[in-house]
Amino acid sequence: MATAQQVPDILSPEFAENPYPAYRVMRESAPLIWHEATQSYIISRYDDVERAFKDKESVFTTDNYDWQIEPVHGKTILQLSGREHAVRRALVAPAFRGTDLQQKFLPVIDRNARELIDTFRHTGSVDLVGAFATRFPVNVIADMLGLDKADHAQFHRWYTAVIAFLGNLSGDPEVAAAGERTRVEFAEYMIPIIRDRRENLGEDLLSTLCAAEVDGVRMTDEDIKAFCSLLLAAGGETTDKAIASIFANLLLRPEQLAAVREDRSLIDRAFAETLRFTPPVHMIMRQTAADVELSGGTIPAGATVTCLIGAANRDGSHFQDPDTFNIFRDDLTTTTAFSAAADHLAFALGRHFCVGALLAKAEVEAGVNQLLDAMPDLRLADGFDPVEQGVFTRGPRSLPVEFTPVPA
Ligand code: HEM
Repeated sequence: MATAQQVPDILSPEFAENPYPAYRVMRESAPLIWHEATQSYIISRYDDVERAFKDKESVFTTDNYDWQIEPVHGKTILQLSGREHAVRRALVAPAFRGTDLQQKFLPVIDRNARELIDTFRHTGSVDLVGAFATRFPVNVIADMLGLDKADHAQFHRWYTAVIAFLGNLSGDPEVAAAGERTRVEFAEYMIPIIRDRRENLGEDLLSTLCAAEVDGVRMTDEDIKAFCSLLLAAGGETTDKAIASIFANLLLRPEQLAAVREDRSLIDRAFAETLRFTPPVHMIMRQTAADVELSGGTIPAGATVTCLIGAANRDGSHFQDPDTFNIFRDDLTTTTAFSAAADHLAFALGRHFCVGALLAKAEVEAGVNQLLDAMPDLRLADGFDPVEQGVFTRGPRSLPVEFTPVPA
């Protein structure tokens, strides 16, 4: 087994600047690394990460979330397994697909995209990250839950604290304390709203969660609060990065941007390829319940495993020319890219496969369509080269663009 010295450390500035060369070295010559600072085993090959996510042998548990996210959200679906997980999943999943998504939430998504674009459509220049990507998904979630619009700014602050907590690989105590404070503030805010909503059910997601029942099981106020808190991070941060990255990838390749502008059915291809090439979540952890042998050696029982999605998605044994962004590649199936049969690993696979994948797809479609309509000659600001930031989650730091405003 390799040690961290042979490849750039995942906590080093060099890795943060550009992890892709390090991912290549890991896949090729150090597929299993013991990483002292995070006390975890790092895996990077597609087959190993896929095996951990699919977990056919019931070895890779999600017990890591007990310390990784419970302090900030409370106990969530991510920590559950077996029947308990299946019941909880059945309670929440219908809200994120099918008629609920189409009829109740698509209008919410469209409206939120339009409201944000209205703030800059006449200006001729904007930072797509600051003015759109970081706001759109979190506004959509707050609106889907039926929360007060006036609280969106507060939601955005909590969201930022939660994200910082999750990405706190180096264990900064101030970031940890801010994350824990958010848990208290969020509970003080949400619990009275949940109690009130139980008495006054409406058409919103919070009402659906209050009323949902499977096999006589309902969610408690604490369960619903924790789930809403998880949605901020799981549905906000990820989709935020996805929207910023799809634009960065296309703006850097004007011929592919032109193709998508011309034929909007290509948005799904561009989104799937963005999820493969620049996934919003670069690493997901698991905890082993037994010794398990992977490429490069054996991981002992009770160990934390860091699964590098960003590395696995560029594994040459699964994708041709993996370091090239190409929306027309034929080794990535668009029809399954937003389901548990996906060939990229950006939504994970197996029982914890992202429950919000179709919602994310709907948001990206609406956002990209409306932005392209509002900005016919969209281009990167003169001389600007997008810089990615983040190690745990990753996306462009900013994306200043210029365009000729469409006359009203
Ligand atoms: C491009 C956007 C998104 C990406 C890349 C993404 C990524 C992921 C990943 C990697 C997981 C698996 C975590 C694990 O196995 O440990 C996950 C699970 C989850 N995601 Fe997403 N996600 C996205 C959007 C969303 C949205 C929009 C929502 C909902 C509003 C959402 C809600 C969830 C939930 C609740 C889970 C836990 C599912 C379970 O434990 O059964 N995600 N997501």
